[in-house]
Amino acid sequence: MAEQTITFTIDGVEVKGKAGQTIMQAADEAGVYIPRLCAFKDLTPHGSCRVCVVLVNGRPQASCTQPATEGMVVESETEEIQKHRRNIIDMLFVEGNHFCMFCEKSGNCELQAQAYRLGICAPKYPYQFPVRDLDASHPDIFIDHNRCILCGRCVQASRDLDGKTVFEFVNRGTEKKIAVNAEAKLADTDIDISDKACDVCPVGAIIKKHIGFATPVGRRLYDTEPIGSDIEKKN
Ligand code: FES
Repeated sequence: MAEQTITFTIDGVEVKGKAGQTIMQAADEAGVYIPRLCAFKDLTPHGSCRVCVVLVNGRPQASCTQPATEGMVVESETEEIQKHRRNIIDMLFVEGNHFCMFCEKSGNCELQAQAYRLGICAPKYPYQFPVRDLDASHPDIFIDHNRCILCGRCVQASRDLDGKTVFEFVNRGTEKKIAVNAEAKLADTDIDISDKACDVCPVGAIIKKHIGFATPVGRRLYDTEPIGSDIEKKN
């Protein structure tokens, strides 16, 4: 049976999608980039970061989970929505410890890249400087909780792509953090450097050892083009 095509608009641009697609999936295929942090191509979207929120017929919805439907009017780049995104990014920066100039992920970091795309030069909220730990026990991988934004990609990837459950969330509210399925440390888990869970972190929280600064700063993914450029080039 032929796939049903649906037509809707994003910021006045006509987008054609397939029935069953989310707004974000249809937008991606049409070359319209909607900013995101927790959504990742091989993982089931779960709508946790809220960076991808758009107005759907005037109501805020997460575009990574909201199905696209015929005739819907989506607004993504309004001043109100961009302000909402800037606020989220701002808060993520101050509630962790993100020292980009010392981070191996700088230039490849999606949080940093979203900040640049949204025109953020410095956070407007006070820094929290939380005390967080670092687990460097594993010979090939380390976790720096200072940089974790709790997107949940590693939890999903380990469970759904690697068939393991190396990572999980523990605690609630400001105490929420990523933990590992061992008594104490990453070295006691069955994680392997080839696991997909090691490749999905949008920031520098999960880093592979031994390959630091293989690509010089200034020549990394988002040093040369804004995040989302790969999608927008489809236009
Ligand atoms: Fe949709 Fe995070 S990308 S909520």
